[in-house]
Amino acid sequence: MSLNEQSSRRCLAVVLAAGEGTRMKSARPKVLHEVGGRSMLAHVLASVRAAGADAVAVVIGPGRQDVADEARRAAPDAAIFVQTERLGTAHAVLAARDAIARGYDDVLVLFADTPLVTPETFGSLRTALAQGAALAALGFEPPDPAGYGRLLMVGGELTDIREHKDASEDERAVRLCNAGLMALAGSSALSLLEGIGNANVQKEFYLTDAVAQARRAGHRAHVVLASSEEVLGVNDRIQLATAESIFQQRMRLAAMRDGATLIAPDTVFFSHDTRLGRDVLVEPHVVFGLGCVVEDGAVVHAFSHLEGATVGEGATVGPYARLRPGANLGVGAKVGNFVEIKASDVGAGAKISHLSYVGDASIGAGVNIGAGTITCNYDGFDKFRTEIGAGAFIGSNSSLVAPVKIGEGAFVGSGSVVTKDVSPDALALGRGHQVEKAGWAHHFRAAHAGRPKKR
Ligand code: UD1
Ligand code: MG
Repeated sequence: MSLNEQSSRRCLAVVLAAGEGTRMKSARPKVLHEVGGRSMLAHVLASVRAAGADAVAVVIGPGRQDVADEARRAAPDAAIFVQTERLGTAHAVLAARDAIARGYDDVLVLFADTPLVTPETFGSLRTALAQGAALAALGFEPPDPAGYGRLLMVGGELTDIREHKDASEDERAVRLCNAGLMALAGSSALSLLEGIGNANVQKEFYLTDAVAQARRAGHRAHVVLASSEEVLGVNDRIQLATAESIFQQRMRLAAMRDGATLIAPDTVFFSHDTRLGRDVLVEPHVVFGLGCVVEDGAVVHAFSHLEGATVGEGATVGPYARLRPGANLGVGAKVGNFVEIKASDVGAGAKISHLSYVGDASIGAGVNIGAGTITCNYDGFDKFRTEIGAGAFIGSNSSLVAPVKIGEGAFVGSGSVVTKDVSPDALALGRGHQVEKAGWAHHFRAAHAGRPKKR
């Protein structure tokens, strides 16, 4: 089905985010733990949005204001519902009854602890509904099916889902498992859900029983297949790390498909929002924190750490550079080894090649900042700005004590401590004068001749 056909069908996504996540051993609820710098909940919300959901309902546990806040941050129009008692997945979906009752063509049910499902897969579930199924379940074949619900098929049709704990030996031999996520036709969703009882081992209202309900009502149920990786559910920190590594691999492949060269992709780490242009070259061991954009043709040398930074076209960074939030490098700028930049604009072609700290500064085009230069931007209470005009030259090992302005084209002599503004094209020297005492060393040695040296 084309995206157009899909978008003519109205879709509600119900996201179950009530999980306690005790196995995370965390002060934070499980679904707020992050993959690629974004909460698992926000991943799921972004993915269903991309799959064309028109409305989102998030079901949270009682008292979970933090989860509600994150849901609203990620999807401002999300409706929040509270499941007051944990009585099973069908019961959780029915907490969002009011949203479902508003009438949608497709109702997608998702788990907020299953963050890697792609919009394409949600699209396939919706396609099954568009083709007449009342229900579409997501199936996968895990290496070890124990614990999962089994998809029971007869003649290519899904007839039931049996929870592991309720399954017979024969049913347990089935390898095709339920990933948990499901799509329900809006026209029958509520009647199916409301018909579900809790006569099972766990005394829970199982969402999975919607399949048998649908069959009883004469509807068809369909299975869409996914990979184990895609439907990975996170229950502990080990699975969180597995999800992270799958996500990183996706980001690396996407960056390379979009025209960036990663010399050692497995050593480059991305955030969910990292953007690399074409012909960007990323050397080994680079970390992109949140909010990084690297424009076409830029080079990020090995062992650099970037966060909240923009690297202009053709600029070079590192090796061993740290770009902190608000570092904006202009076209062709160069930031070299052991340089830290924070909240600073670095003009086109400017060079900060070695061992510098530049914070709260604006550096004009073509400026050269010598090795060891420090902007002294903080007095323990407030932060102050340093402005360096285009074409200025800052000698090595200078301290620029902010607030201070260096005029265009000015020179600052090496080793200066600059506390006053410098006029354009002037030379500023802020250091002790060199004195010379002729022959001093000779006399010194002569005075000490014959004395034993302390070791
Ligand atoms: C569920 C499926 C199972 C599937 C498995 C995949 C059911 C009955 N079973 O089992 O077929 O193989 O997922 O991982 O659906 N939740 C609530 N409220 C509740 C109960 C659950 O919000 O009252 C949420 C949980 O936080 C979780 C999700 O629903 O995000 C699934 O619940 P969970 O208890 O993990 O179900 P499983 O037993 O894993
Ligand atoms: Mg589970």
